[in-house]
Amino acid sequence: MCGIVGYAGRQAAAPIIIDGLRRLEYRGYDSAGVAVHDGRGIEVVRALGKLRALNDAVAKRPLAGSLGIGHTRWATHGRPSEENAHPHVAGSVAVVHNGIIENHAALRRELIADGVKFSSETDTEIIAHLVDRSLKGGAKGLFEAVRASLQLVTGAYAIAVLSADEPGTIVAARHGSPLVLGFGENEMLCGSDISALLAHTRDMVFLEDGDVVELRAPVGDVGPSARIQTVTGIDVERPRKRIDWSPTMAERGGFKHFMLKEIHEQPDAIAATLRGRIDLENGDVHGAEIGLDGDAARAVRRVYIIACGTSYHAALIGRYWIEALARVPTVVELGSEIANRPAVFFEDDLVIAVSQSGETFDTLAGVKAAKAAGARILAVANVLDSAIPRLAHGELYTRAGPEIGVASTKCFTAQLTALLLVSIFLGRQRGALDAEAGRKLLQGLCEVPGHINELLGDQDYVRTIANSLVDATDVLFLGRGYNYPIALEGALKLKEISYAHAEGYAAGEMKHGPIALIDAQLPVVVVAPKDASYDKTLSNVQEVRAREGRVIALATKGDEAMHDLAEHIVWLPEAPEHVLPLLTVVPLQLLAYYVASRKGHDVDQPRNLAKTVTVE
Ligand code: M6R
Repeated sequence: MCGIVGYAGRQAAAPIIIDGLRRLEYRGYDSAGVAVHDGRGIEVVRALGKLRALNDAVAKRPLAGSLGIGHTRWATHGRPSEENAHPHVAGSVAVVHNGIIENHAALRRELIADGVKFSSETDTEIIAHLVDRSLKGGAKGLFEAVRASLQLVTGAYAIAVLSADEPGTIVAARHGSPLVLGFGENEMLCGSDISALLAHTRDMVFLEDGDVVELRAPVGDVGPSARIQTVTGIDVERPRKRIDWSPTMAERGGFKHFMLKEIHEQPDAIAATLRGRIDLENGDVHGAEIGLDGDAARAVRRVYIIACGTSYHAALIGRYWIEALARVPTVVELGSEIANRPAVFFEDDLVIAVSQSGETFDTLAGVKAAKAAGARILAVANVLDSAIPRLAHGELYTRAGPEIGVASTKCFTAQLTALLLVSIFLGRQRGALDAEAGRKLLQGLCEVPGHINELLGDQDYVRTIANSLVDATDVLFLGRGYNYPIALEGALKLKEISYAHAEGYAAGEMKHGPIALIDAQLPVVVVAPKDASYDKTLSNVQEVRAREGRVIALATKGDEAMHDLAEHIVWLPEAPEHVLPLLTVVPLQLLAYYVASRKGHDVDQPRNLAKTVTVE
């Protein structure tokens, strides 16, 4: 959702900040702005719409100065408009903010009673006025004024603040929304996301909730510096970390869209997620990152997986693996549903939170509830040191590299890889799998990158099918067993980026309702590899054909029966049943991509969607 970039160095700040914001575009936004201190005061430029509009506005009103803050806004309080775009200014202070100030209404009333006039509908402007009031009331500088003001607000925030009276200082803070500091060559940066800073540095500090930092720009021979305190003014140290993502990983690298690049990166993402984690000889998985030793793994009475969106679909497959391979009863729940009812957690639950961003509000809320009940938490996340892994007892990172396309692809297959590792680990520790069975499962998994490369080799077949779906307004996706969640995921991908209505259904449920939809117009995508439920799925295909439905099938090479029934077929390589969902999803990702691309949609930033959903 919203994005923050701050720069304190020796170079012109505005282009660096706007470039950083460009790297955060994928998070989703509707307006943007930048504030730069030019040595005499703060100049602010804001624009509604994409960064192009901000660039045009800055071209008309050039911003000089080597210290500044910028923001991309995704509207929560107040409609998308230039007035509501950040930075917000009050007196000598300019503020950018991610998150939501929960007590904004009460604070607004109090400030209005004090004679303050608001120029926007946002909760953020309250912070600017509080800091301004604190400075006017005698605070010893911006650092102290921000700390004092933050003691008055409740809610989630990451902020960056400038004062016209302090030309060399940015004060930034986090509570519940991520904020990272970057230590470059003679420059310091802050940002809401690693990707915004990668072009300048890979040396970073992840702030903790409640931290407030004073970034000081270099002056003469004195280099830049950072001082971190709690909101109550106690000095704290936070470790520096070297990030192993390279700046080029967040570039399109010759592909038309990030989504297409990321689909192609799946073999590498899976191989990286496996690296160093498996013991093929003993058919086992190393448990250190999972955070369970053998006794703890055997003590687990139930697995409870929490996730949203695509990660939820990965979680559904995770449940099937855990129950099949480790024989542990497993529940999967949407984060947003846990918050709305008194969910029950036990101390002997293993709660697995699956989240690409590691920041999704609803998943995080579920994790907090489970942790409060004493459950053991395992995070499967892609973003290092994000909020969910920070709360967890174990962290099994998916090593997919930065995922920029809003529609998740490589993180999904990397999540599946991680969940299969957890299932095998639990199975081995609990005696549900012997070494030979573990070895076979792991061997099958190690072969997946090769199979995906094969599927990616010739995409003409998928393009042809996509062309036939460009005008479809409704598409039904069917699958059974491991491929039921893949049907859900195929439908979600198509919806997200092509804006066609698509529904995923368990194939066995077809006759309980959706069969009423079938006619000669409705395309039905059936995921039907040769697996244990193949015969039943084939019967569904016959039922669709009997009603003149258009069948698009994903079938195993050599499947003659399917060949005779389907209008189009994507041929799948032969592979063991447990890894099939890692393969069957790939043509569905490509299908959604080519349909959306043919329609001329903004594939990487589909309308209304945000990559990281940090609000409820
Ligand atoms: O960062 P997370 O994995 O927690 O995000 C969850 C969903 O918001 C996310 O998967 C969303 O559904 C994607 N746009 C799917 O492509």
